[in-house]
Amino acid sequence: MKSTLALEADGLVKVFGETRAVDGLDLAVSSGRVYGVLGPNGAGKTTALRMFATLLRPDDGRVRVFGHDVVADAESVRKLVSLTGQFASIDEDLTGRQNLILLSRLLGYSRMASREKVDSLLEAFDLAAAADRKAATYSGGMRRRLDIAASVVSTPGLIFLDEPTTGLDPRSRNQVWDLVRAVVARGVTVILTTQYLDEADQLADRIAVIDHGKVVAEGTPSELKASVGSGALHVRVRDPQRRAETESILSATLDASVRIGSDPATLSVAVSDTRRVARALGELSEGGIDVVSYALGQPSLDEVFLALTGHPAEDDTITTSKEDVA
Ligand SMILES: Nc1ncnc2c1ncn2[C@@H]1O[C@H](COP(=O)(O)OP(=O)(O)O)[C@@H](O)[C@H]1O
Ligand SMILES: [Mg+2]
Repeated sequence: MKSTLALEADGLVKVFGETRAVDGLDLAVSSGRVYGVLGPNGAGKTTALRMFATLLRPDDGRVRVFGHDVVADAESVRKLVSLTGQFASIDEDLTGRQNLILLSRLLGYSRMASREKVDSLLEAFDLAAAADRKAATYSGGMRRRLDIAASVVSTPGLIFLDEPTTGLDPRSRNQVWDLVRAVVARGVTVILTTQYLDEADQLADRIAVIDHGKVVAEGTPSELKASVGSGALHVRVRDPQRRAETESILSATLDASVRIGSDPATLSVAVSDTRRVARALGELSEGGIDVVSYALGQPSLDEVFLALTGHPAEDDTITTSKEDVA
């Protein structure tokens, strides 16, 4: 019964010298979903994924993938998972097509079945036109798409995507998001790490926020955002003399305290319910207050972090990673 979970981690620990990279991580991931692991650089995301994927042995705790222990039953786990990202096995000297053919042949597909499978993947991942170019010539976005295509050649039950969009331009980022959605629609479970709240928000059904190798918050994207407020409304008024009046109108309609900017014409308010924003702006206009500009921003990962952990996301944990010795 319990094995309906795609992944379950209990008290997982990995120590590198003085660094407790993963420090008592607990996670329960239902199947058929996108599960987001959100955290800043150095939080322990990659280390956790590598243990999930049997590439690194835990120092303590346990992980089960569809009920199979990653240490005791690593062989079964390897048949069920696929890891892409920093550790993908794309060969630069081969074309996109050759990479996928090679992989599917290795996985035991016949020559004919490989060819068909690869054609459909190249099509689905928008790589058909570039299929016969060396992977070395691919852009970052194309490489990421080839990477994800490679990870679904075998239709695994669970895919790990380690920061699949870090460093990509917005268009490529959107393409990768669409692919992740397409992969999940086929019934695959995806565990995705990211440093971007908006990415987790767009893709994930549930999110675990991690910090110093531990889960500090877990829930649906809306639960997490609600816990820190949905965002902030930033307003600039034409006449700085009327800022005090603006402040009282905003605090009354939005039921929140207003922060005064260092610029005498600006204010910002934490917003828990964005539907109230239009009303607040309406009240200002009725009060004869001329608003030059306004912007509604989502809380950033930094704000989420600060709210959840009491410290900023960027801190002293960013160190140069040594060569893996595992
Ligand atoms: N092979 C390693 N040897 C030593 N320290 C490591 C190694 N891998 C990761 N670390 C350290 O463990 C911490 C977590 O790293 P990592 O899992 O890569 O975080 P993230 O993927 O969230 O950025 C960091 O402090 C990092 O420097
Ligand atoms: Mg990482």
